[in-house]
Amino acid sequence: MSDAAAQSLIEPPLGLLAELTHRCPLACPYCSNPENLDRRSTELDTATWKRVFSEAAELGVMQVHLSGGEPTARPDIIDITAHCRDAGLYTNLITSGINVAGQKLDALAAAGLDHVQISFQGDAAGPADHVSGRQGSHARKLELAAQVTGLGLPLTVNAVIHRGNADRVTEMVRFAVDLGARRIEIAHVQYYGWALRNRDALMPTPDQVRSSTEAVERARADFAGRIVIDAVVPDYYARRPKPCVGGWGKRSLNVSPAGKVLPCHAAETIPHLTFPNVRETSLHEIWHHSAAFNAYRGTDWMAEPCRSCDRREIDFGGCRCQALAMTGDAAATDPACELSPFHARMIAMAETAVAEVEASPLDTEYDYRRFL
Ligand code: SF4
Ligand code: FES
Repeated sequence: MSDAAAQSLIEPPLGLLAELTHRCPLACPYCSNPENLDRRSTELDTATWKRVFSEAAELGVMQVHLSGGEPTARPDIIDITAHCRDAGLYTNLITSGINVAGQKLDALAAAGLDHVQISFQGDAAGPADHVSGRQGSHARKLELAAQVTGLGLPLTVNAVIHRGNADRVTEMVRFAVDLGARRIEIAHVQYYGWALRNRDALMPTPDQVRSSTEAVERARADFAGRIVIDAVVPDYYARRPKPCVGGWGKRSLNVSPAGKVLPCHAAETIPHLTFPNVRETSLHEIWHHSAAFNAYRGTDWMAEPCRSCDRREIDFGGCRCQALAMTGDAAATDPACELSPFHARMIAMAETAVAEVEASPLDTEYDYRRFL
């Protein structure tokens, strides 16, 4: 196939996750940022970020997720938001909720911000502040949520689920409804980046996974029409993997604080891939022609059992980063799939982690991720 023909088969990305900075006022043990965080001195400057967003719009991106770390730690966040609006991009601020309420949110709304997603570590201050590693954080999030809905901006609550809060899914959904959120993400921890360090302390028990899954189904019925509930089942207890990032190089791309362009947030854990940087290469070039984005695009790279599986265009073989972490081969079937020869090992790992730690969540010692 000619290069032009191959290029025409590559769909444009829908979303771009812009990690504007890795700096963050919170210290969540389940952070999905990499262990080697980008220093402030290496972050892209304002002009480069603006160019990136203009290139993204030209490439076909519809939505940008302004994320981090804490994206509002950047003094140019309002300027960047206004630029995205002018480029015709839908802007979603993914925030810890600290130091945003008040004039900053008013200015962001005036600059054209379309949507706010706040991560909540629980539905009550004590346990939530324990997980975030910062006293008073829950109260500041509540203040921000009230201002968001007061301004008429759509609000999503992001609730990361782990052993310490897996029994409170129903309460989390009710909490989000009471906040006026339109959507809640019930997202079990994904064990990449920093979160992998805390896997044993965060892993829910099989009973918790079952009951939290049932709680989601009950809540969908009880709160139908009042809130949209998106739920992600934990990989270690799945029978089939999720289509990680909607398929490698298919729907989205990430830009790191220092400008590396990645197909997913954990892609740098794959050592044989080299990721281009927006400082040297355009987004168009990277999306269509980089070896990193083409490495696991489509299905040609697959081996058995994925190659002949009728789900290969549905889940794209699952997560490349998890396949690497668990099997040593990024091109292997994700062990979350029960057709993977490594699936039993993954289940055993989850069971061992749970058996080794007493189920006393609030006494759990976390390895907090601190980076200001
Ligand atoms: Fe998905 Fe591969 Fe498992 Fe089939 S074998 S369900 S394509 S991960
Ligand atoms: Fe990298 Fe899933 S996190 S492909």
